[in-house]
Amino acid sequence: MLAPIADVGRHPGTGGYRRSAWSDADMALREWFAGEARQRGLVLVEDGNGNQLAWWGAEDGHDALLLGSHLDSVPDGGAYDGPLGVVSSFAAVDALQREGFRPARPVVVANFADEEGARFGVACAGSRLAAGALAPERALALTDRDGRTMAEVVRARGRDPLAVGPAEWLTRVGTFVELHVEQGRSLVHDGAAVGVASAIWPHGRWRFDFRGEANHAGATPMPDRHDPVQAFAATVLAARRLATAAGARATFGRLDVEPGGTNAIPSRVQAWLDSRAAGEADLAELVAAITAAAQTAAEDDGTSVEVVAESVSPAVSFDAGLRDRLATLLDAPVLPTGAGHDAGVLSPLLPTAMLFVRNPTGVSHAPSEFADDDDCAAGVEALTAVVRDLAGAS
Ligand code: GLV
Ligand code: MN
Ligand code: MN
Repeated sequence: MLAPIADVGRHPGTGGYRRSAWSDADMALREWFAGEARQRGLVLVEDGNGNQLAWWGAEDGHDALLLGSHLDSVPDGGAYDGPLGVVSSFAAVDALQREGFRPARPVVVANFADEEGARFGVACAGSRLAAGALAPERALALTDRDGRTMAEVVRARGRDPLAVGPAEWLTRVGTFVELHVEQGRSLVHDGAAVGVASAIWPHGRWRFDFRGEANHAGATPMPDRHDPVQAFAATVLAARRLATAAGARATFGRLDVEPGGTNAIPSRVQAWLDSRAAGEADLAELVAAITAAAQTAAEDDGTSVEVVAESVSPAVSFDAGLRDRLATLLDAPVLPTGAGHDAGVLSPLLPTAMLFVRNPTGVSHAPSEFADDDDCAAGVEALTAVVRDLAGAS
């Protein structure tokens, strides 16, 4: 089922997927999703935030069981993060339709918009907007790397920016179960093809804006420089040291150096920190310590740094009753994750759960992300059993 979209947004050089929100690739995937819904006789609805919902059962029904995931990717992402959850949901619907199963509540397959936040910086923008956890005016003013606002981008794709915001359909969802490729190797160690999520680590993204003074690379003596790259470099080293000591994570995966001339001292460095920890207080402490290290380094060089939080996600503990029910039903291990998901965003509103499918290397957000076909099939079987259990006649 992934084969028809295997080439969509795939970079021929890296083999990675470049499927950022509202890109041509994302639009092609939306079309594909609509076709899959149609083929199964599901009713397709798109909300004002670009979230696509394929309803099996009345689209104005209540207490729906929501499945699905997302189709966008990080830059050079893998084939499974997101799409595996979407195709597995359609495959579960297929299996149940084949056996003549009649759901006692609507079953909905979702493609959540802009889950990775790769374009506008805020993770899970589609589900956050639908849930009322992200203000529409803030979202619409976010800019991409070309300086285009989300409002401009969605308008150019024929959507109405005024429609962005809390979604009525979500009030008619009773449960959400998101299947996802595991982003780690817990299931390899457990010797299990499928697991159930217990929790998501709190995490976030912070923009560090280092400013210095542009000058000539040859004519400016070393002691006279105000080079913002120096404070940035010190910050990267401090982040690694502090995160390692705290048993947490810190990554600078995106960097802009301006103006970017080899023979010029830069005037500005913008760098984005992604940081995660087991607890919210640990995360706050770590980010404060990295910020302090940046400030000290900048002061030493006569440069400056400002830090702005762009996307912060609190700790998530998935609904304990649902987690235990699914773990028992599937006889599956329970594991936490350091990765963020739409299921985490929706968890304060309704019982949510996640199924993870084994990933032999644990690699994710990279082209080599992988899951064996047999494990993917086990994931579909597990999800099918979950729908039978949660949407069967009581
Ligand atoms: C999403 O995959 C994230 O954890 O950043
Ligand atoms: Mn991801
Ligand atoms: Mn994902």
